[in-house]
Amino acid sequence: MDFKLNEEQIMLKEMICHFVENEVIPTAREIERQREFPAEFIKKMSELGLMGMSIPQEYGGSKTDSLSILIVIEELARAMPSLGVIFSVHSSLFCYSISKFGSEEQKRTYLPQAAKGKILGAFSLSEPEAGSDALALKTTFVKEGDQYILNGLKSWVTTGNNADAFIIFAKPKSDLATKKLSAFIVLKDTPGLKISKVEDKMGLHSSMTSEIILEDCKIPANQILGAEGQGTKIAFHCLDYSRIGISAQSLGIARSCMEEALKFSKQRQAFGQNISSFQAIQFKLADMATLLDASRLLTYRAADLFDQGKSCTKEAAMAKLFSSEAANKIAYEALQIHGGYGYSKEFFIEQLYRDARVLSIYEGTSEIQRIVISRQLLR
Ligand code: CAA
Repeated sequence: MDFKLNEEQIMLKEMICHFVENEVIPTAREIERQREFPAEFIKKMSELGLMGMSIPQEYGGSKTDSLSILIVIEELARAMPSLGVIFSVHSSLFCYSISKFGSEEQKRTYLPQAAKGKILGAFSLSEPEAGSDALALKTTFVKEGDQYILNGLKSWVTTGNNADAFIIFAKPKSDLATKKLSAFIVLKDTPGLKISKVEDKMGLHSSMTSEIILEDCKIPANQILGAEGQGTKIAFHCLDYSRIGISAQSLGIARSCMEEALKFSKQRQAFGQNISSFQAIQFKLADMATLLDASRLLTYRAADLFDQGKSCTKEAAMAKLFSSEAANKIAYEALQIHGGYGYSKEFFIEQLYRDARVLSIYEGTSEIQRIVISRQLLR
């Protein structure tokens, strides 16, 4: 297995590093502190062609392999985890699902706009009583003539109040017991769609997470994604892919924690020497670096399988499980190395520690990843 970056990936990495160092890092922490949406960064990312990386060229995108998208997610998340997840949801859940399952008309209508960043996408599966048990959702649809009417309450929608369009999952009103969901493309200004609440979260403050109310929300019938009943497969297939994106976000956060811990340990003096000269710190750094490298290998393996068109359900779940848990362990130890300073908002590690916490929760908790892995092993 060869995970060396090719020439194009190296150039992309250089470009994104340059963008992150010069445009994102100088203001990211302040934007995050102010809980502002990073609209300027998204605009610049659109100009750089990044928003269309999972969209084929014929629809205005710059479709690349998955590893290239992971490189971008990692670098963004390293500087600003909120930006990493906004990009990941737009690329891996919204643009990818339309590119893969959309009709020709849908691709022509939405993808060129999404590639230009004029449509920022979100993905709305969860509900207050249907998170891990996604197929228990209660949002309904009814077909009336040439339109669908949606009713329900969706929750935990990443980019919820900043997105221009959503992939929304629902069940037929006549059969709430079914496990066959249907997926719809819904524009944010559709009458009947209302952002009802923005969550006051522990971290990722620049990535707003919202609740959406659908009240007799009428959409043209041609905005169904795939066929009626195909939504379950669409949701789980896209989640296989996007879980690799969350692994890459974990890599970015974990790498940043490592960098902060290394820098601090080489500067901080205690007992007459830099704390990096103590074995207690050195062993922590060694364990953190090992976890980070193992996370990377699992993540790249899952992406490699995906790009070969092979099933990566188990490998994506393994990558998400391991990388997200590893990022949390790395964040914990990096903060510990900072001692009291790590508990102060003055230091970046305080934010990274909070931002890391959700990695093992969204896009399927660690417990769900274990269910997915064990089912694959036992089937
Ligand atoms: N790819 C394609 N199809 C799949 C699949 C996959 N990876 N996994 C399952 N399916 C299909 C099954 O084959 C089955 O189809 P058939 O009925 O035709 O056989 C159907 O889906 C239902 O599968 P299960 O019976 O296994 O479903 P389940 O109810 O037992 O649930 C689960 C399985 C793994 C627990 C699943 O519900 C799950 O992954 N839950 C977590 C949901 C999740 O990740 N939510 C995240 C929300 S999105 C988010 O967080 C985005 C954000 O904004 C950041």
